[in-house]
Amino acid sequence: MRCRSLILALLTLSLLPALGQAQQAVYVHAGHLLDVDGGQWLVDHAILIRGQRIESVAPASELERPSDAEFLDLRDAWVLPGLVDLHTHLTGGPQLHGYQGLSYSTPRLALLGAAHAKQTLEAGFTTVRNVGAGGYTDVALRDAIRAGDVPGPRLQVSGPALGITGGHCDSNLLPPEINEPAAGVADGPWAVRAKVREVIKFGADVIKVCATGGVLSKGTSVGAQQYTLEEMQAIVEEAHRRGRKVAAHAHGTEGIKAAIRAGVDSVEHASLIDDEGIRLARENGTYLVLDIYVSTYILGEGEAAGILPESLEKERIVGQAQRDSFRRAHAAGVQVGYGTDAGVYPHGGNAKQFAYMVEYGMTPLEAIRSATIEAASLMGWEDRIGSLDPGKLADLIAVGADPLNDVTVLEKVDFVMKDGQVFKDKR
Ligand code: ARG
Repeated sequence: MRCRSLILALLTLSLLPALGQAQQAVYVHAGHLLDVDGGQWLVDHAILIRGQRIESVAPASELERPSDAEFLDLRDAWVLPGLVDLHTHLTGGPQLHGYQGLSYSTPRLALLGAAHAKQTLEAGFTTVRNVGAGGYTDVALRDAIRAGDVPGPRLQVSGPALGITGGHCDSNLLPPEINEPAAGVADGPWAVRAKVREVIKFGADVIKVCATGGVLSKGTSVGAQQYTLEEMQAIVEEAHRRGRKVAAHAHGTEGIKAAIRAGVDSVEHASLIDDEGIRLARENGTYLVLDIYVSTYILGEGEAAGILPESLEKERIVGQAQRDSFRRAHAAGVQVGYGTDAGVYPHGGNAKQFAYMVEYGMTPLEAIRSATIEAASLMGWEDRIGSLDPGKLADLIAVGADPLNDVTVLEKVDFVMKDGQVFKDKR
């Protein structure tokens, strides 16, 4: 007992200097500031930031600049909330395609992740959901970024994805005498419950589950369901009880519907969704995260990058179908979140998908909302990110032209602030 109060006293003492310190203030004058909720530009507005958070937003003529505040002149710029990518693999990359990944150790992958995190942040993505990583490299990366050891986006991570033996999220590249099952493999309702508990124990913020076959896995049929409804219900129940959302990889029609019926929070890919699936998603409030840029990379550069011929074949089945599904789902009013599968294509190109979302039916504003306020809501972080409102974290980016006229300007972000700290300023 005496020992505990001594430790407490020492801790309090060590915190005192921090308490006494005034929080750094920054006054940003933005020529154009995007109000993502109202869907309009606020002209000549100022944002007052204190520490990590936005304190106030008002017309610059009405918001006085405190004498201690640093001045940031973004009068020539279009300022938006930091962007969110809901589907990345930061500790993976195109250099791992096919069999190449087998020569990477777990620590090597974590270091690769640090480099990719920096590229992603500098592309304007201040928050990222990492869905699927071996060896808990994503947990390590999240914590290193949080501690300030390496620059990168704020992360929600899943650890290893749950999947069936031999399924999309198992490793199927080697013969049985040397094949190790992937860390997330679990079969049967109780085994999957135990696996959810295990990944949470080791740091998962969100649960990733593979509901159907996939494109880049060897020997899986992209349209075929893998987990049963019963297994997915067990996963969702266990995850939700622990306050974790569930993201389900699903390309195939039946697997998508089973995942939605089981209560997952988002369906990733959703390539072959039918009208009933779209109706179910709308009724259940399930987000669809359709990565509709990546097909261009896979079919254009995938062969040279070492993607297996069978995967290229599967991409030809789902690529265009997924884009058509995107158009139908959006037109039907389903909630769509911005997720790109970065890591399949080179990190830092995360904004390339905006143009595809506009080509397949969204307005630029809707596409930006999917990567800000909608993404925040799927992550359960609508109280801290997604819009430039008082009380939220000071994550903002600036571009040199109006992205509501031409959404591709988001591919060239000049300025990035995360948590009130400037990480890029190329103006
Ligand atoms: N990770 C996904 C898979 O292997 C990539 C799918 C890419 N293709 C697409 N059209 N979205 O299944």
